[in-house]
This record gives sequence, structure tokens and C-alpha cells, in this order.
Amino acid sequence: MDFAARITGTGAAFPENRLSNASIVERLAKLGVETSDTWIRERTGIRERRISDVENPAELNSSLGFSAAQKALEMAEKSAEDIDQIIYATCSPDTLLPSTACWLQHKLGAKKAWAMDINAACSGFIYGLATADKFIQTGQVKTSLVVAGEVLNPMVNWEDRNTCILFGDGAGAAIVEQVPSDSTRRILSSHLLSDGNLWDFLWVPAGGSNMEVSPERYSRKLHKIKMKGKEIFKVAVKTLSDFALHTLNKNLMTTDDLDWFVPHQANLRIIEAVVKRIKLPMEKVLINVDRYGNTSAATIPTALDEAVRDGRIKSGQTVLLDAFGAGLTYGSLLLRW
Ligand code: ACO
Repeated sequence: MDFAARITGTGAAFPENRLSNASIVERLAKLGVETSDTWIRERTGIRERRISDVENPAELNSSLGFSAAQKALEMAEKSAEDIDQIIYATCSPDTLLPSTACWLQHKLGAKKAWAMDINAACSGFIYGLATADKFIQTGQVKTSLVVAGEVLNPMVNWEDRNTCILFGDGAGAAIVEQVPSDSTRRILSSHLLSDGNLWDFLWVPAGGSNMEVSPERYSRKLHKIKMKGKEIFKVAVKTLSDFALHTLNKNLMTTDDLDWFVPHQANLRIIEAVVKRIKLPMEKVLINVDRYGNTSAATIPTALDEAVRDGRIKSGQTVLLDAFGAGLTYGSLLLRW
């Protein structure tokens, strides 16, 4: 292999509207559904999340992605004309056709790029980075833009207290560039897997080609997220731990070699259970679920961007990304910053 890939810029963007737990309690009370700030904080670690105004063109998924991409380009000192490839990880696209990646290309004016979406739900950013890494290694792509963005709010059933408290909207982006294969600072390895047998752990029944949204299905809210929370919780703790250890093992490393662990931010209790299993101090874990909730594919790049910008992540440090999502999908990626 002649080439390797390195992240040279990151960015993040969120909608303006903050929805605190107190506001959710109020909102659900009007629908006759009971919840509390204490329950949400203790069971999930979430204090607030951002919710897109879908009537506002500036808060569409691709618009949040655009804003995150501009910041990433600026950090990498690149322009839209430099981008060869746009990968957009999302399970809440602006439109089914065209892809959100093409909407983003249109907004950026990235004329020489080719663009595609990836739907791996919450594992999407890692799937996107792993794909960019492979194209860069083969020499076909020099500069890739990987964006992970979600506007989940229209897919959430606000009468289902098991799910509506969890999700938030936002986008994160990374510029990934070609570097010589012997570079120290690069993506070291990626590991992906999915288990389609667990499709009904988290899904949206209607709205795809297998089930059109009819008035009857609309009233039954079949176009909204359905989730088996407890089942996901157990699989998530096991697979996040197994993937973290497997990835370190493949790179002849242990948790002592890690500077930062960036797990998917679904629930603070899942993260704490994983960290305990892999014996990693909590100080090495990046957390943003408390302020943004579960933004699906966007949790990892937004947490990463925050730590890069505030100087916690430093040049040469070893960072492990680790995710699970609907599918179910799993993925981990180790890099030297
Ligand atoms: N407020 C108050 N009570 C609630 C709420 C709420 N918002 N939600 C559930 N409860 C109640 C339940 O009805 C239940 O009551 P009961 O004992 O009378 O039946 C009780 O609280 C306990 O419910 P559990 O489901 O056992 O609660 P748990 O501790 O498992 O937490 C949660 C639920 C937060 C959903 C947890 O299971 C979880 O986080 N699971 C993982 C979900 C996840 O990661 N989803 C995203 C996947 S990634 C992707 O691809 C998007």
C-alpha cells in the first residue's frame, strides 16, 4: 500500500433550538405522557438536545452538514474544489432522491467530487471514514469529505417516552487526506460488522418501498422509530467492548496505549458499562450525550470536533472510535491524530 489517510480537519453544527428535559416533561404532559428530568438524567445521562426546525432551510440535514463541512475545510485549509469524494452518513436523509451527499455537493459547489450516502445508522461515521480510508489507500481519492448528519426529530414518536427522550439533531464532518503510507499520523485500522438478524431492535416500518405511508399507517405512527431499548442496551455493551479490545489487539496495543476513546453517545450508562469492561479510566472518554442526546451517526464526529478544537486531542495521540447502530451495525476505527 503506497498511501494512508489522515483526518486534517473537523467541524460540527447543531440547530439553535435547545430542548431541555424540563421542556420534554412539559411537552409530553400535554400529550398525557409522564416522564421526569430525574428519570431521563439517571437512565440516560441526557440533560438537553438540539431539535431542528424542519421549516427552516438552514436547519435541514444537508444544511447542518454544510456548516460542519465548511468548518472542517477551514481547519484543513482546503476549499470545496479540492474535494474528490463526499460520503454522507445518515439515516434521516433530506430526501430519498437525490442523496443528501448530492444536496451537500450542490450547496458546497464541490464540482469535481462524486457523492454518495451511507446508511449504517449510528455507526455511519465510522463506516464512512473506513470507506474513505480505502479509496485513499488505493490512490483513487486524495481528499475526501466525510459528513455524518441527522435530523431525527420528524422520525420520533413524541408520544413514546421510551424513545423521544433519547434523540437529537446535528452534524459532524471530517476532511480526510492522502498521506504517505509510513506516516505516523494516520488511520491505523478499521473493523466493521453488521447483524441483520437484529433488524427489529431499531427500525422505522413505513416510508420505504416495502410500505408506503398511507393515512391509516400514518395514524398508527408506522413512519416513526420503533425500538427495543433493553435488548439494544445489552448488545451495545458487549459489542462496543469486544470491538474496542479486538481493534487494540489487532494493532498490538492495550487500553493503556489509548489517549482517547470516542464511543457512540446513545446512553451514558452504556458508555460507563463499556469503559468498566475494558478497564479504561473515564477521563479518557469523550462525552457529549449530556448536551446533545443521541444524534445517531453525528455523535462521534461532533464529540471528536469538540475535543480537537478545545485542545484536548493533541498531535500524535491515539484515538479509538467505537459505534453500534440500527441494523444492527457495529464498527471501530483506530487512528493516530
Ligand atoms: N420517563 C419515565 N419512565 C420511563 C420512561 C421515561 N421517559 N421511559 C421508560 N420509562 C419506564 C418504563 O415504562 C418502565 O416502567 P415499568 O417498570 O413500570 O414497566 C421503567 O421506566 C423502566 O424501563 P426500562 O425500559 O427498563 O428502562 P431502562 O433502564 O432500560 O432505560 C432506555 C430505557 C433509556 C431506552 C435504555 O434501555 C437504553 O438506553 N437502551 C439503548 C437504546 C439505544 O441505544 N438506542 C439507540 C440505538 S443507536 C441507533 O442506531 C440510533
